[in-house]
Amino acid sequence: MCGIVGYTGPKDAYPVIIKGLKRLEYRGYDSTGVALQNGSLKVYKKKGKVAELEESIVGKDLKGHTGIGHTRWATHGEPSDANAHPHQSASGKLAMIHNGIIENYTQLKQELINKGYQFKSETDTEVLLNFIEEIKKNNHCNLEEAVRIALKRVTGAYVILLLDAEEPETIIAARKGSPLVIGIGKGEHFLGSDASPMLEYTKEVVYVNDYELAIVKPDELILKNLGNEKITPYVQKLDIELAAIEKGGYDHFMLKEIFEQPQTIFDCLRGRLDTTGGKITMSGIQQYAGQIMNANRILMIACGTSWHAGLVAEYIFEELCRINVEVEYASEFRYRNPVINPGDVIIAISQSGETADTLVAIENAKNQGAIILGVVNVVGSSIARASHGGAYTHAGPEIGVASTKAFTAQLAVLTMIALKIAHEKQTIDQERYLHLLNELSEIPEKVAWVLKTKEKIQQLAEKYKDARDFLYLGRGYNFPVALEGALKLKEISYIHAEGYPAAEMKHGPIALVDEHLPVVVVATKDTYHHKVVSNIQEIKARKGKVIAVISEGDTDTAAMCDDVLIVPEADEIVAPMLSVVPLQLLAYYIGVAKGYDVDKPRNLAKSVTVE
Ligand code: M6R
Repeated sequence: MCGIVGYTGPKDAYPVIIKGLKRLEYRGYDSTGVALQNGSLKVYKKKGKVAELEESIVGKDLKGHTGIGHTRWATHGEPSDANAHPHQSASGKLAMIHNGIIENYTQLKQELINKGYQFKSETDTEVLLNFIEEIKKNNHCNLEEAVRIALKRVTGAYVILLLDAEEPETIIAARKGSPLVIGIGKGEHFLGSDASPMLEYTKEVVYVNDYELAIVKPDELILKNLGNEKITPYVQKLDIELAAIEKGGYDHFMLKEIFEQPQTIFDCLRGRLDTTGGKITMSGIQQYAGQIMNANRILMIACGTSWHAGLVAEYIFEELCRINVEVEYASEFRYRNPVINPGDVIIAISQSGETADTLVAIENAKNQGAIILGVVNVVGSSIARASHGGAYTHAGPEIGVASTKAFTAQLAVLTMIALKIAHEKQTIDQERYLHLLNELSEIPEKVAWVLKTKEKIQQLAEKYKDARDFLYLGRGYNFPVALEGALKLKEISYIHAEGYPAAEMKHGPIALVDEHLPVVVVATKDTYHHKVVSNIQEIKARKGKVIAVISEGDTDTAAMCDDVLIVPEADEIVAPMLSVVPLQLLAYYIGVAKGYDVDKPRNLAKSVTVE
């Protein structure tokens, strides 16, 4: 969480930084701030979104060719002007922005207080900054050296960018556990939490690794490790166009991303799924196919929506590959001292590739000998780099905080992996294998069909937007879809929503059912459809309102529900990629109808780089 931007070069730094911060707002929007080098350090910061800062500093001195900017997701200290970054050191000569958490900051703070330091904020960042200043003063060294010494004492995660009034063209940056990209221009450099702030200026970037320190000047980039040894920067070419991170005529990124799904699923299948040849090509999986086939168990490790994708994959892998699968919340797994056996394969699922819990969980498991396969969207991200192999989801940048297209792309990739392994392991017969390849290839077209029903879904959103609670139910492959539908609604409409396995309803949640409770039942045609229909009857018998996701042509189920959301028929293994789409739209339209900023829901951030 938190977005960081930096610039040094011939351009005015302020407009570059502000534009970059707007692109990184998905990472947090509790406060915004910039620091500019113009004779002396100029720092402007404010509680609230980037636009609020911009408005508040019209007419101020915003000149300068070197600067840093920050958009915050609060960890230490409430969202306020004082807690906003950049922070300035006690002398006023250093300014710093930070993404991450300094875990031993109370100890460092006490040491500094004992030396007479006073603090203007409640943040761990201001502590680290003054700690660096104290080292610089005592050791009579430059900022680079002081940062290096300080970081040896620091525990936690960070990306920090620092300015020193004494070195007006230089940005010092360091990383451990939070992402940092440096863009290389002609006589200029850009820094960002991801590549979006630099896309229109350069396609050449360096992903900084943990424990690396960068000394960034307009015409020079020096990378070093904390032992002061130089490292040759590995320059990579970006494969993202500017249009991919803009709204392209849609009201919100979330809506754009929902509507991109026919294309993103197609892109994900392209070059991998060959229905005529009956083949799936995935080189990052092929390398480990033997280990996956022989695995005693597969562990899916993820958080949030990606965890839901793991749950769907559990059903698919167990059914098709006959391998025991366990799905773990990364945050629990990392602290549980889990048993990792030789032959365990871990599939880490993550849109951002930067989720701190997932990253640490897989690093722990890797140290115990597990094979890590990443199913990741962001190319070059930390989880992708920490994995032995895997497959990118190729969904393109996802900016709306609520994950949508990343989920369906994860399902497409995981389904392909399962089919590939089942085919090689011969746990699926050829006829079913070819049938499922075809079913998968038809998903983009079928999602496009669902999207055409958006007006109907918008009307339902109006009808149900004032409900206080929602229950979401599903069975089998559609149980995780119910969880995902509930999560989407909670995140962007702030309506309490719970997802449950349909049959569990009678073990508790049925007590909630009355004429005021909308129950969304995912009831597409599958093996257990008749069972779900019984659950619908049970809800109706208690006067609950049923909104069912049903298969096209299922008039019998439609007749017993209050409202229906229709999707084309599909094999149950690929059906979640369809049944989730109307639930994404329902949540979106309810959030909009309630007047909320669906792209930036309160308290949330897109990329959760703190525990
Ligand atoms: O980037 P990741 O997929 O690792 O992120 C995991 C969760 O933080 C994420 O899915 C979150 O739950 C979304 N806001 C869901 O819409």
